[in-house]
Amino acid sequence: MQTKIHYHPGDSALIEAVSVLRAGGLVAFPTETVYGLGANGLDREAAKKVYAAKGRPSDNPLILHLYSPEQAERYAYTCPLYYKLALAFMPGPLTVILKKKPIVPNEVTGGLQTVALRVPSHPVARALLEKCDFPVAAPSANISGKPSPTTVGHVIDDMDGKIDMILDGGECSVGVESTIVMIDGDDLSLLRPGAVTPEMLAPFAARVLIDPSLERPLAGNEKPLAPGMKYKHYAPRADVRLLKGDEERVASYMMRYKRCPYVGLMTDEAHYHALRSKRTVCYGKDAKDEAHSLFACLRAFDGMPKVGTVYAPLPSKDGIGLAVYNRLAKAAGFTVIDVTGFAER
Ligand code: TXA
Ligand code: MG
Repeated sequence: MQTKIHYHPGDSALIEAVSVLRAGGLVAFPTETVYGLGANGLDREAAKKVYAAKGRPSDNPLILHLYSPEQAERYAYTCPLYYKLALAFMPGPLTVILKKKPIVPNEVTGGLQTVALRVPSHPVARALLEKCDFPVAAPSANISGKPSPTTVGHVIDDMDGKIDMILDGGECSVGVESTIVMIDGDDLSLLRPGAVTPEMLAPFAARVLIDPSLERPLAGNEKPLAPGMKYKHYAPRADVRLLKGDEERVASYMMRYKRCPYVGLMTDEAHYHALRSKRTVCYGKDAKDEAHSLFACLRAFDGMPKVGTVYAPLPSKDGIGLAVYNRLAKAAGFTVIDVTGFAER
């Protein structure tokens, strides 16, 4: 299949994209979090194509993207807490899970009786959704298991030849996927951490319950609330190892590998100068920056054929740090090396 790419899409490109979607085709588009792989969310056959293009297991449900929070009424049973969250965080990087209405096909929800809804804020996503008279089902536009795409180049790498169209919208500003919450009475369960942090959600709920799968590997009999969180995601080709200890210890541990052709290093701005090499990637100065460039960094190591191991500092879990921690810990299969006792040689 020939994939049509629209750089800087204007009105006519967007109208073309809507007709592709309406006809059951697939269109990748930018959001503020990551690029999405869009399909008509009411079309079962189109949903099946999404799973095929990504190589995604069909029990892993898709998020419906809407232009406005009120459109949720057509697809789900809403509640006052939904509207409080909508007022505070939509359009923006928050996904809410609600009980679904029959109009939403089971192929979209992976057979679940609930549906995930999100109102993205990226201008291209908004312009596209405004023109659609259906919801757009969209997972991240990566091959299943690879880091989510945050640039049009990443989407082209994974989806060229497999989908009808790609809309460019520059680099995604947030860089990690949306926060996912499920409403349970007055409580909120956090299923996936993102830029809307537990601290930001706390004023709206009696309790914000953190799904254990976000912070530790699950035992054989445990299941995460979001089916997608059980898969080893976000993984580059190399093995990722997280280093725990104070900053200077971690940096001096990494220093040993600076010239090793088989090891990649991920570091912050403060230590980049000392650790700089062809295999060292800088992911910014603070947690927000880290979130923004995390997936691009992980993909950069895929372009270094000899690198078999990547070392990165264990991120803090504060604020958006929890989202970075969760993605990196999953990329690392939760492998953490404590370097506290490490003495410099
Ligand atoms: O930022 C985002 O959310 C991006 C952009 C494109 O909007 N989309 C995204 O979709 O990350 P995806 O499919 O890669 O991740 C959706 C996650 C999966 O972990 C899935 O299991 C979970 O949402 N999910 C979807 N519907 C659900 C439901 N009804 N109940 C529980 N989890 C659900
Ligand atoms: Mg994904």
